[in-house]
Amino acid sequence: MTPRDFDTIAEESASSASIKAKSGMDRISIKGGRKLQGVIPISGAKNAALPLMVASLLTKETLTLTNLPELADIVTLAELLAQHGVSVDWDRANGAIAFKAGKINNTTAPYDLVRKMRASILVLGPILARKGLATVSLPGGCAIGTRPVDLHLKALEQLGAEIKLDKGYVHAKAPDGLHGAEITFPFVSVGATENIMMAAALADGESKLINAAREPEIIDLANCLTTMGAKIHGIGSDTLIIRGVKALGGGSHRVIPDRIEAGTYAMAVAATGGNVLLKGARMDHIGSLVEKLNEAGVKLSEADGGIQVSSPNGRLVGVDVMTEPFPGFPTDLQAQFMALMSLADGASMITESIFENRFMHVPELSRMGANINLHGGSAMVRGTTSLTGAPVMATDLRASVSLVIAGLAAEGETIVSRVYHLDRGYERVEEKLAECGAEIKRIGE
Ligand code: EPZ
Repeated sequence: MTPRDFDTIAEESASSASIKAKSGMDRISIKGGRKLQGVIPISGAKNAALPLMVASLLTKETLTLTNLPELADIVTLAELLAQHGVSVDWDRANGAIAFKAGKINNTTAPYDLVRKMRASILVLGPILARKGLATVSLPGGCAIGTRPVDLHLKALEQLGAEIKLDKGYVHAKAPDGLHGAEITFPFVSVGATENIMMAAALADGESKLINAAREPEIIDLANCLTTMGAKIHGIGSDTLIIRGVKALGGGSHRVIPDRIEAGTYAMAVAATGGNVLLKGARMDHIGSLVEKLNEAGVKLSEADGGIQVSSPNGRLVGVDVMTEPFPGFPTDLQAQFMALMSLADGASMITESIFENRFMHVPELSRMGANINLHGGSAMVRGTTSLTGAPVMATDLRASVSLVIAGLAAEGETIVSRVYHLDRGYERVEEKLAECGAEIKRIGE
């Protein structure tokens, strides 16, 4: 692997087919009605990869991550890490990146990068733990809700940080280092659990995180930190005990498969009446979805290093769903489930309990003929026998892909605009679907 500077990496990445729409306004055209048949390889999980990349800030030694998806968000975070002084050496042929934070020479995460991706707030805990100070722009709200970071800040204060907010930035300092503490999160937060787990790994003494998130991505981060020398007990449970160490070392870690990508394709197969092997997908990561899809009539079984999905012979059955932290039904699959239920026989009540405004796909699905009524945090979906293609757009990643699912099942052509949302989280989406028989292509502006 030859070290290359990050500018070259970003330039190469920006020109690659899978993420080039980041700077443009490409659209995706789908001619619906084709059954999906074949194999879809599941990529490394974006939401596991992002915190794992940030973990490189905790050590002077090299952390190598493999099975990284090639996505716009990965490039954005690599860019942020590079400006903190991390060397980023991307072996694209093998989907591996080696990160080395020999020295953190800049403790500020600027607005221009943080606003592009909220996960940037994760650098706060690790930089503070390693350097005794950190300044990170507040991410601000986003399309799916206000998304504050108060839990992150309060927990860091409990670890001994002094925190001030000034001109849109979080200024945190801990001149004598962080110390262990017992922290009870008032509700489950994936990002706050990750931030505090990383900070506590280098704090002086023991920390106990109560009501911690236990998503597979949290387990993946805890396993990687353990490889680096962290002392973490209770991995996979809602109580994490972390005994701080003076320094962490490097290591190599393979990112888990993307359960949200797998769940998304499972629903695309169910919507089109197909039969596909999701290669690499893990059943234990999507138990709540499997249960709901079974109720709806979709069959999923472990097979050949992945999950085989076959749609029912007749129509899908309407099923109710409520989003919850893991192991409950993931909010990141709610929009896709709604697209599927639009085609079911009967009604389905879909309740979003994690984010207050995650229904931007509703008016777009309605334009394709879906019958959906919103009542506060719930959507009543009355299934129809068919959807019709239409020009549509969405304002976030999962909403966009729900429109792709609807388009695959609809009669006629659907054009999905603002493909840059999809490029944040789905690697080679149109290629993977086309290889299974979908009539889908990316078109320029
Ligand atoms: C992670 O976001 C994921 N992002 C999201 O995936 C996912 O939807 C979410 O977890 C829930 O599963 C990444 O992993 C990079 P939270 P995160 O903190 O960590 C509120 C996708 O499509 N909250 O668990 O930001 C918050 O507003 C994305 O891939 C506070 O009020 O989510 C939300 O209502 C989108 N204060 C709830 O908690 C805080 O300090 C859960 O958010 C923190 C969170």
